[in-house]
This record gives sequence, structure tokens and C-alpha cells, in this order.
Amino acid sequence: MLLNRIDEVRAEVKKWKTEGLKVGLVPTMGALHEGHLSLIKKAKAECDKVVVSVFVNPIQFGPSEDFDKYPRTLDADTKLCDSEGVDIVFAPTPAEMYGTNSNENENSKLERLSNDILTYVCPPFFYVNKLCGKSRVGHFDGVCTVVMKLFNIVQPDLAFFGQKDAQQVIIIKKMVKDLNIPIQIIQCPIVREKSGLALSSRNKYLSEEGKKDALVLNQILNNIKMCYNKGITNVEALKETAYTYLTNKHELDYLEILDKDSLEEKKEADENSIALIACKVDGVRLIDNITFGGF
Ligand code: PAJ
Repeated sequence: MLLNRIDEVRAEVKKWKTEGLKVGLVPTMGALHEGHLSLIKKAKAECDKVVVSVFVNPIQFGPSEDFDKYPRTLDADTKLCDSEGVDIVFAPTPAEMYGTNSNENENSKLERLSNDILTYVCPPFFYVNKLCGKSRVGHFDGVCTVVMKLFNIVQPDLAFFGQKDAQQVIIIKKMVKDLNIPIQIIQCPIVREKSGLALSSRNKYLSEEGKKDALVLNQILNNIKMCYNKGITNVEALKETAYTYLTNKHELDYLEILDKDSLEEKKEADENSIALIACKVDGVRLIDNITFGGF
């Protein structure tokens, strides 16, 4: 069932709750691929009812980012969700979510939305002042705000997030803990193409050659983990190994090895470490990560 309005979703979920059913939420921005589907399948396996939100959230995009050209494929997304047995696809407009008549393409209105008139949920500086948060200022404020709104609208028992966006799921877990939100966060593994490329809606922007060049992210991470498994634990030494892979086709944003829960820096890597990379390939900013133990 495709619903666009908050009150419709609330009414439907309320019925389920009175029946004592377990509700799962999978928040997405649409352009669904196998990565999203893995979250949906997990939600179906663990819950009685599943809501998938499809919302390209304007307030998590910077002014020079790809909000306008972000792929929007609601028909296909809805069909896919139907075939997976999803109970509600919640696809609100920005006006429905943020209570303004803002036109999606009018950036001035979106800026006003972020600066003047909206209550935000802002995750701690320590968690956002690094990795993607450093180059995407305000991004995680936008993510936490929309996720908190979705949590309040749907009031799920469980919510499903991908390890692909490691910093995002760590920050969401922190928000849930700090604000005593009664929702269990389920972290799901990264789904990759056979080539090793992590699936992403933004892969659609890549040319065939760009897709090959993009394999470097996964290669760098695999090699770091292989070196770690062979006994190299010094973080600087591990990071150094990346440079043999990078060419002038790659614009490295960051490569970090941190604690997988606290995002603290370490001198020596251990089983709790995670290596995270962001790199521009073919003009497209891609991210990937690998944990040294599990997550
Ligand atoms: P989006 O990029 O659409 O991703 C939705 C969810 O799918 C996220 O939890 C993300 O980590 C997961 N995902 C994406 N690619 C994946 C892959 N290859 N393997 C496993 N999981 C994958 O992340 C967002 O949307 C937004 O920031 C959102 C949380 C919806 C807030 O607007």
C-alpha cells in the first residue's frame, strides 16, 4: 500500500499495534537496489508488519550536492516493495514532512527550512566532525532529524540500517541511546556486486569505466584487512598500503581506521577496528568500509 500522508500511516500502524503486531521500519531515499532489499527481507523475517519509507530528504543534502538529480524511481520502488510483501510504502512530499509549501527545486526555500524554521536533532560533534561529516557539514543533522521524524510517525519496534553507511548507523545508535528512543536498531551487512563494488543508488551516476575504477575502494579495504590478518596492526602502516592502488582517477576524501562503535582514533588496530574510505571516482563520491572483527 502506497501512502503519502503522515496521518494515514499513523492510523494504519495504530491498528497493527492494537493487535499486538511487531512493526519494522526500513528508512530509504528510494532508487531501491539489492542493498535496500536485504534490509527489507531482514525486516520481513523479524517483524509482522513492515513499513519502507521512500523520501529524498532535502535537509541532508548540502547546497552543492545532488538533491535535484538524485534518482527518483517511486513506481519501480513500489513494485519491488509489493513483491517483497512490504505492508506500507510511505512516500511523503517535502511539504508533508516539513510542513511548508517549499518547492523541491527552490534551494532558497530549502536553505530557509534548514536555518530558520525547523527543530533539528543534532548528533554530537565528536561523531560528526570526521569522515563524511567533515566534508558534508550539516548532513547528519538532516539525517537524524528525518530519522527521528520517521521514528515518531511510524513508531516501529525495530528499524533497519545498512553497514554500508557505517557512520550513519553509529550516529543513529548513539541518538537512540542518548534520547532513550524505544526502538531496536538492526545493523545489516553490506551487499556488493560480484566485482566487490558496494551497491549504492549513486552507482547509477558511474560510467562503465568509472565502475571499474570504483573497485579501488573495495581493493584498498580488502588489502588493509589482509595486512591486519597477517599481523600488521599499526594504523599508519595499514593506511600507507592504500597508496599503491590510487591513481589520478581517484580523488581520496578520507581513509581512516577507527573504533567501530565510538569512532575514536587508535594507534594500533584490533578486532574492534573499522577501516572507512570515501573517494571521488568519475566525479562521483563513493564510500565503503570493512570491519576487522564483526559489527
Ligand atoms: P539510502 O541511501 O537510500 O539508504 C537506505 C538504507 O539502505 C541505509 O540504511 C543504507 O545503509 C542501506 N544501504 C544502502 N546501500 C546498501 C548496501 N550496499 N548494503 C546494505 N545496505 C545498504 O541512508 C539513507 O538512504 C538516508 O540517509 C536515510 C537513512 C533514509 C535518511 O534519509
